[in-house]
Amino acid sequence: MSNITIVGSQWGDEGKGKIADWLASRADIVVRFQGGHNAGHTLVIDGKVYKLHLLPSGIVRPGKLSIIGNGVVIDPWALTTEISELRHQGVNITPANLLVSENAPLILPLHGALDRAREEARGNQKIGTTGRGIGPAYEDKVGRRGLRVCDLAHLDTLRAKLDAMLAHHNALLQSMGASAFQAEDLVAALKDITPQILPFVGSSWQMLEKMQSSGKKILFEGAQGMMLDVDHGTYPFVTSSNIVAAQAAIGAGIGADKIGYVLGITKAYTTRVGSGPFPTELTDEVGETLGKIGHEFGTTTGRKRRCGWFDAVQVRQAVKTGGIHGIALTKLDVMDTLEEVKICIGYECRGKKYDYLPASQDLQAELKPIYEALSGWQQPLKGVRKFNELPDNAKKYIHRIEALIGVPAAVISTSPEREDTVLVQDPFQ
Ligand code: GDP
Ligand code: IMO
Ligand code: MG
Repeated sequence: MSNITIVGSQWGDEGKGKIADWLASRADIVVRFQGGHNAGHTLVIDGKVYKLHLLPSGIVRPGKLSIIGNGVVIDPWALTTEISELRHQGVNITPANLLVSENAPLILPLHGALDRAREEARGNQKIGTTGRGIGPAYEDKVGRRGLRVCDLAHLDTLRAKLDAMLAHHNALLQSMGASAFQAEDLVAALKDITPQILPFVGSSWQMLEKMQSSGKKILFEGAQGMMLDVDHGTYPFVTSSNIVAAQAAIGAGIGADKIGYVLGITKAYTTRVGSGPFPTELTDEVGETLGKIGHEFGTTTGRKRRCGWFDAVQVRQAVKTGGIHGIALTKLDVMDTLEEVKICIGYECRGKKYDYLPASQDLQAELKPIYEALSGWQQPLKGVRKFNELPDNAKKYIHRIEALIGVPAAVISTSPEREDTVLVQDPFQ
């Protein structure tokens, strides 16, 4: 197994960026395969912070190829802004180290407008989307009316394609009291941005096939987390893509047998941003402490993340449905000061016990967690890089989680810094 697929095993923001960047030292290619600029992946390298939304985390390492696969929805304006921001931070980005899939769907300004208008119309039933147009862009892909990156190479036929899209979108937007879009404005905006995108565009599946057959190592970098998966998550409070590891094959254009070791990035506690069920949510002082010490504010929208105890039932389900072989347990250091730590080992609802997360949103909203308590370690873990240097109570917490979710903690992270990472089992072997 020379390839690795990284997926978030909770509700996103588990530290995928940090682990992807750390593992990228031994990969040749890093590929994003779903989501879009709703993602926010943070890397901290020698104190310098990099925030990535669309670009794979491999971009900061010289000599690595980064690919934005066909499964990603691409806002060309967001992509060019991100490229120029990273260039300002000294990151070299050229067609030699960034390839954008020609069959990836495009996010246009009308998708963001529809996303936000719908959220507005939902009143107190909001999903709490990032407002980036992710859902509407995936709808257009499946609805077979979307534009794709390759369409930017054929500006002469753009107008006709946009007219067909607008017939659908303007009717929707206007029915919600939002403004209609003019085809000529969109054509002009796309013509303007196209020269900045086209140099990066190519056939990514062919590049991957070439690299794969010459023995190069591929790291597939997922966005979001399993509970936001459109099929397996807390529907309808989810994103509009599949997050399960199988999506890496679809969203990159490679055989399902090539995704390799699946590493589930797993926070030592739980967070969620946006609305929706969250059985172990803490609205007390402990939740505040986790949020404060963990700096739990969204990388993309700046929203405060909801915090709660580790939910072993939820992560076990993510392990099974996501095909996770092992986890990277992150942010253990954030729990340093707690006297007691709790793990959810089951749920209770309407007089019945559950050892899994039932699919019904009505039941999910009422689930009450059943906890097991362990003693905290009350010692600073920041910067620990060897398993043996962890205090006994931290080891007990890790081993209990492993037993409950059924897979090992292959990697443990003890600070936001790239190198503050414990390797227990090498996922590249
Ligand atoms: P992602 O979306 O999964 O890549 O995660 P985010 O970057 O949105 O959020 C994770 C946050 O936790 C970032 O600010 C990281 O720098 C930080 N982080 C990652 N790993 C650790 C860790 O082990 N300890 C601490 N204290 N922070 C971490
Ligand atoms: P990373 O990759 C956390 C959430 C939004 C909202 C729901 C739907 O950084 O882990 P969308 O805009 O996708 O239609 O919003 O999904 N969400 C995320 N939450 N981390 C993310 O990405 C997320 N991407 C989307 O908050 O609840
Ligand atoms: Mg994030």
